[in-house]
Amino acid sequence: MRPRGSVIGKPPDPKDSIAAHYRERYGSTPAIIVAAPGRVNLIGEHTDHNGGFVLPAAIDRHMVIAASPREDTLMCLHSVDFSSDASFSLDAISHDTQAEWSNYERAVAWALQEAGYELRGMNAVLAGNVPIGSGLSSSAAIEVATAYAFRTLNDLPLDLVTLAKLCQWAENEFVGVKCGIMDQFISALGKARHALLIDCRSLDHRLVPLPPEMSLVICDTQVRRDLVSSAYNERRAQCETGARLMGVSSLRDLGEHNFENQQVELPESVRQRCRHVISENRRVRDAVAALEGGDLPAFGTLMNQSHESLRDDYEVSCRELDIMVEAAWEVDGVYGSRMTGAGFGGCTISAVRPDAVEAFQAQVSCKYESATGLAPSIYVCHAEDGVRLL
Ligand code: GLA
Repeated sequence: MRPRGSVIGKPPDPKDSIAAHYRERYGSTPAIIVAAPGRVNLIGEHTDHNGGFVLPAAIDRHMVIAASPREDTLMCLHSVDFSSDASFSLDAISHDTQAEWSNYERAVAWALQEAGYELRGMNAVLAGNVPIGSGLSSSAAIEVATAYAFRTLNDLPLDLVTLAKLCQWAENEFVGVKCGIMDQFISALGKARHALLIDCRSLDHRLVPLPPEMSLVICDTQVRRDLVSSAYNERRAQCETGARLMGVSSLRDLGEHNFENQQVELPESVRQRCRHVISENRRVRDAVAALEGGDLPAFGTLMNQSHESLRDDYEVSCRELDIMVEAAWEVDGVYGSRMTGAGFGGCTISAVRPDAVEAFQAQVSCKYESATGLAPSIYVCHAEDGVRLL
């Protein structure tokens, strides 16, 4: 029996209706439609802001913008998902406390202009099916889609790595979340059927094929917590303290052996945060070797260890994420399962044998719902290309 309310499958694709929304609003056909994907991180959590390694994939959930250029510097925006309008001038960009969703477009316009790019205004309609606040990076997707729309409409000489960096900067400086580069980078540079190994210090990156014998299943706990950004910034500061006390420019510079043998007294919480980051960097590289060597059980074990480390050392899991992950661990045919994204709610990612997916959905939703009273949404995701014109 399928538990009450659980979602097996995807909500409607915004790509199908965005042009109609645009026509309804502006009475014409949009000049361009841009889609930027959300992402799921397979392993390498909270390592990006420490100059470390991550292994995300872009997923088949998108934020979509239909837009046409204007002759002036006005930005006219309509959000289908919020049923809300916003407008601002590119000549004086400030935060909007009413239509907060528009702060991502404001942030990107601000960052591009600060970096010296000349922009014209646009009429635009936005919609998406990346669930907001679920740890699948809806905000990075909207930033990347917006930057790509500006790039296309203004013919900007902007490569995708620079575009991703500008979007991260927009989020850091204008939105005020001190995130790393992972989310914007994968939304811009993801590839179908692949994960992307990113060195978040050098920004070197390499595609890692995803084997067809492994389905990627996302389970949304339906829990959203407000403390994500304050706890995120606090942990980031603890990592920076650890690096400073140990005399390295970032935790990326330490291996597990050096860390365990170093002589500096660290406050206990700082020691735990550092241990997570340093061991997670090693797990990412081992996970890539396991995937490339076709050793899916080894890959899954590393995912499980990553979850334990995020729960015990980095302390960003929560009861609901632990229940979801433990329910997944008990299902036959599951290689591994862990929380994904910043934490404190949101989603888990599980690597599952394709023939076990149906049993997985039934068993995990049942256990999760009876333990929490919440109906999860559970679906298989597919790795997709990064930002593109439709
Ligand atoms: C959020 C941030 C990313 C990354 C993850 C945790 O998604 O935006 O930069 O730090 O959390 O791995």
